[in-house]
Amino acid sequence: MNSDQFSDAQILNSWHANAAPWTLAVRQGQIDSRLVVTDRAIVEAVLSRSPRLVLDIGCGEGWLARALAARGVRVLGIDAVPELIERAQQAGGGEFRLGSYEQIASGMTPVRADVVVCNFALLGRESVEGLIRSMPRLLRAPATLVIQTLHPLIACGEHPYRDGWREGSWAGIDAAFTAPAPWYFRTLESWLRLLADNGLRLLEMREPLHPVTARPASVIFLAALDPALHPANDV
Ligand SMILES: C[S@@+](CC[C@H](N)C(=O)[O-])C[C@H]1O[C@@H](n2cnc3c(N)ncnc32)[C@H](O)[C@@H]1O
Repeated sequence: MNSDQFSDAQILNSWHANAAPWTLAVRQGQIDSRLVVTDRAIVEAVLSRSPRLVLDIGCGEGWLARALAARGVRVLGIDAVPELIERAQQAGGGEFRLGSYEQIASGMTPVRADVVVCNFALLGRESVEGLIRSMPRLLRAPATLVIQTLHPLIACGEHPYRDGWREGSWAGIDAAFTAPAPWYFRTLESWLRLLADNGLRLLEMREPLHPVTARPASVIFLAALDPALHPANDV
């Protein structure tokens, strides 16, 4: 498929189709990088900000909410796929609501959180840009946005190192997945510009390493509202 034909809508179609195998893959520990590196890395990054209330955007079946709840943190998880939200609600550990990034960007979220976390959930183009633009309404200053995503240098593969849609793949996950979603590749510079252009100041960047390959399993950005740009945000 020509990359011009990829869109944010295809991403959600794929998650609708794959909610059941995704839940199994996460809960049975089928994804090596999560088991070995990235689950712990995101929990530690969120807890490093000592939050009372966390908004988990693109929460999927809810594992992160459960992990944080076990550490005494209150979590509201939001995802656009009803089957994932139902599974999250059944497993408990937090409060879970149905909602898309587009709905969040247009003001559906009733809370301002101490940490907004997006764990491998910022996959699209316009949906992600709209969501990042809405952060001043979601963060209760001084609050932190924590994003874990594929490390651009590793995820780039043999493609040119520039922003653009990439074909999806479920390679490496041993389950009954169909219709892999396309995803929008961003360079490191582009991620940092996306944050800065929306009034977010980078506090820290982490590159969790896979212990066997010694290559980054992901990149984690911790960013806060720039007080010079958001003086009106309630403290
Ligand atoms: C790779 S999964 C990650 C799920 C979870 N954060 C985790 O760590 O297991 C990506 C999630 O993003 C959600 N998602 C993608 N685009 C979305 C959108 N526009 N609105 C709401 N959720 C979206 C999907 O439904 C899916 O649950």
